[in-house]
Amino acid sequence: MEKKILNVGVISCSNMAEGHMKGVIAHPQAKLVAVCDINLEKANTVAARRGVSRVYQDYKELLAQPDIDAVIIVTPDHLHREMAIAALEAGKHVLCEKPLALNRDDINAIAAAVKKSDKKFMVGQICRYTPSFKMVKDIISRGEIGDLVFVESEYAHDYEKILKACEDWKSDPERWRSNPERNGVVGGGCHAVDLLRWIIGGDPEEVRAYSTKKIFTDLPYDDTHISIMRFPNNVMAKVFVSVSCKRDYTMRSVFYGTKGTIIADNRNAQIEVFRTEIAGETVGSLIPQKPNSEVSVKFPVAIANHNATAEFEDFADIVLNDKPVNTTVFEGAKSVAACFAIVEAAKKGQPVIPDYNF
Ligand SMILES: NC(=O)c1ccc[n+]([C@@H]2O[C@H](COP(=O)([O-])OP(=O)(O)OC[C@H]3O[C@@H](n4cnc5c(N)ncnc54)[C@H](O)[C@@H]3O)[C@@H](O)[C@H]2O)c1
Repeated sequence: MEKKILNVGVISCSNMAEGHMKGVIAHPQAKLVAVCDINLEKANTVAARRGVSRVYQDYKELLAQPDIDAVIIVTPDHLHREMAIAALEAGKHVLCEKPLALNRDDINAIAAAVKKSDKKFMVGQICRYTPSFKMVKDIISRGEIGDLVFVESEYAHDYEKILKACEDWKSDPERWRSNPERNGVVGGGCHAVDLLRWIIGGDPEEVRAYSTKKIFTDLPYDDTHISIMRFPNNVMAKVFVSVSCKRDYTMRSVFYGTKGTIIADNRNAQIEVFRTEIAGETVGSLIPQKPNSEVSVKFPVAIANHNATAEFEDFADIVLNDKPVNTTVFEGAKSVAACFAIVEAAKKGQPVIPDYNF
């Protein structure tokens, strides 16, 4: 029997979109058949490089192509709502970049469209495919560091090269990161929040936060936030988000459990796991040699902080084999809702209970 081939269109020709295109091209059961960008010159250049013959400036024309089974939406965040809904209504499976959307109204509209559709809809929470974080999740799931007590993650990403602060951000398609609703927390910090939600397996119940703006002073939002959260089962968490700190995109993350600790980040070729022997017990692969001595093991990992290929493999498997989506619209929505709570808590100077009703 002939294998089914998934015909895919990618909406936008940004760098991130090119990562997605590579994932599609590498997949044995997928074909990149069309690309789109409002910047037609860019779209033509990318299409030529990727060997794609169909190029569109208007995403609606791409969606009107009956042979396209699935689309990947990689446009600025405020456009996700209209494109996600239009794609579902056109009968396409959708892989939509994070953050799902920038406000509650947009989230509700996308969630309603997903509920109405029989197509797959997946949110691109790509940190779930980062090799170091996958290893952290596996070690914690096997109980090797016991019950989680305190966890932290950072979204440290100097936007100096990609952000031109601009009040009138809508007038310039390159300046969408200045949109106040796209404040660094929702736009980028959703990675750190989603990572913790995924690893803990629960949602923040209460959020406190502070914020400041010392570097990008003309941005319409605070460029740095720090938040303390309480998760179910009394797991405490800290999320640091800065789009101005002098560091290239890094997610330094630490996980303290009752039996051990893990330090990981997405730009390091190893993760480090620490354990102390507890009452002679040995758990998993880490066996301390002496009573009460700490053992530390460094596990090598591949560095792939934008593992779009693995993400697409998962998406293609879900679509081709009719499997359930893991990173559903509600998963993407909850991560963004927790981010809304961070921003609100910092503004109000009071704890906020995130609203997960979608
Ligand atoms: N998962 C990740 O780690 C990750 C990393 C980077 C970006 N992103 C997300 O990917 C999306 C794109 O970000 P980026 O940094 O790649 O963007 P970018 O600013 O580099 O490029 C955006 C592209 O979208 C095009 N575009 C704008 N409006 C359009 C429209 N109406 N129709 C078609 N094309 C249009 C622009 O011309 C441009 O080529 C955002 O949602 C962003 O948050 C995710």
